[in-house]
Amino acid sequence: MSDDSRDNPWPREARWLHAGIAFGVTWQLFSSLWMTPDFQHADYGSITQLLFSTHAWIGLTTALFLLWEWLWIFTTPAIRAQLFPLRGPWRPIWDDLRALLRGRLRPSGPAPGLAAIVHGLGLLLVSWMALTGTAIFFFLPQGGTPPGAILQALIPLHKALANLVWAYWIGHVAFTLLHALRRDGIWNIFRLFEL
Ligand code: HEM
Ligand code: HEM
Repeated sequence: MSDDSRDNPWPREARWLHAGIAFGVTWQLFSSLWMTPDFQHADYGSITQLLFSTHAWIGLTTALFLLWEWLWIFTTPAIRAQLFPLRGPWRPIWDDLRALLRGRLRPSGPAPGLAAIVHGLGLLLVSWMALTGTAIFFFLPQGGTPPGAILQALIPLHKALANLVWAYWIGHVAFTLLHALRRDGIWNIFRLFEL
């Protein structure tokens, strides 16, 4: 084990959870651009139909990662206070905001502050996608029957927040790249096999 590996500030659970959710949601966003859902049959005749099948199955797997993430948040007070500081303290958030307005980035890593509440809101957002997507899965017609009323109602709910997920993804990746320019250990969250 190198000195670096002992210094990874992210708990191992946070790193594996992030890997699953980041890969899953990124896949979901890009697959949604080209997939052609067929609501009557499970059809695998073209790449775009196959993409819908991956959207369904990777979506369900991402929902399981999110369930694990929420169990972890509910049972770990420190992480809960960072991501959802309902009772404050607000100071770290204002400090981060002030620094950002002056064009300065605060150090990366798990800590209370602006990034942490944005991460909390991002988790709520993708959990809505996972919840509505999982409900869609259960109401997909089997054996060629036309889509029912419940499916028709669920699809607009699933699509309603899709652009916000894009906005989150673009902002999150852009800030990661800005941090990467400073070489401040931003990639630590992706070092899965360190202790
Ligand atoms: C939309 C999909 C994604 C979601 C929902 C997401 C969510 C999150 C969350 C919740 C955290 C905080 C982790 C915690 O406190 O335990 C986080 C951190 C982080 N994410 Fe993502 N992530 C996504 C995609 C990505 C992608 C594609 C990248 C790669 C560029 C990335 C890079 C990072 C980095 C570098 C951190 C650590 C930030 C720091 O050190 O302060 N994420 N992400
Ligand atoms: C974390 C999980 C998921 C995410 C982030 C996600 C994301 C998305 C996005 C971004 C869209 C495009 C919306 C638009 O074009 O306006 C979409 C559409 C769709 N998704 Fe998901 N999805 C997830 C899970 C699922 C699951 C499990 C299913 C079950 C089959 C599903 C079924 C669909 C369907 C049917 C559409 C509409 C396609 C259309 O009418 O063009 N999604 N999803």
